[in-house]
Amino acid sequence: MVGQLFTKKLSEVAYYKYHVFFCTNQRENNKACCQRFDAVAMRQYAKAKIKQRGLSGKGGVRINTAGCLDRCESGPILVIYPDSVWYTYVDTEDIDEIIQSHLIEGKRVERLLSDDQIKD
Ligand code: FES
Repeated sequence: MVGQLFTKKLSEVAYYKYHVFFCTNQRENNKACCQRFDAVAMRQYAKAKIKQRGLSGKGGVRINTAGCLDRCESGPILVIYPDSVWYTYVDTEDIDEIIQSHLIEGKRVERLLSDDQIKD
C-alpha cells in the first residue's frame, strides 16, 4: 500500500490541484506586513472568485489563510503549491490574473512574481 503511494505522481494523490496560501499577518509597530495591503479582503475576494467559477473542492483549488511567511518586505505575498510559486499583488485585477493564468491556464504571471522568487 505505502509502496503504491510512492510510485504514483504527486498529482495523482494530491487532494487539491492547487493550494494557495495568502499571508494575512499584521505586525505591530508599523512594521512591513501583508495586512497593510488589505490581505484579508484580498484572500476573501480570491476565495469567492474560485467558488464562483466552480474551481473549489477536491481536485480543484483551495484558498487558505497563512500566518507570516517570513517574506514581509516582499508583501503582500501569496504562494501556490505544488508549484512553489510566490506572487505579490496590488489589487483584485492582479488576483483575477493569477486565477485565470496560473490556476486555470497553468501559466505563471511573470509580472507578479515575488522579487525573491527563483525564476526559471
Ligand atoms: S507579514 Fe506577510 S510574510 Fe510576513
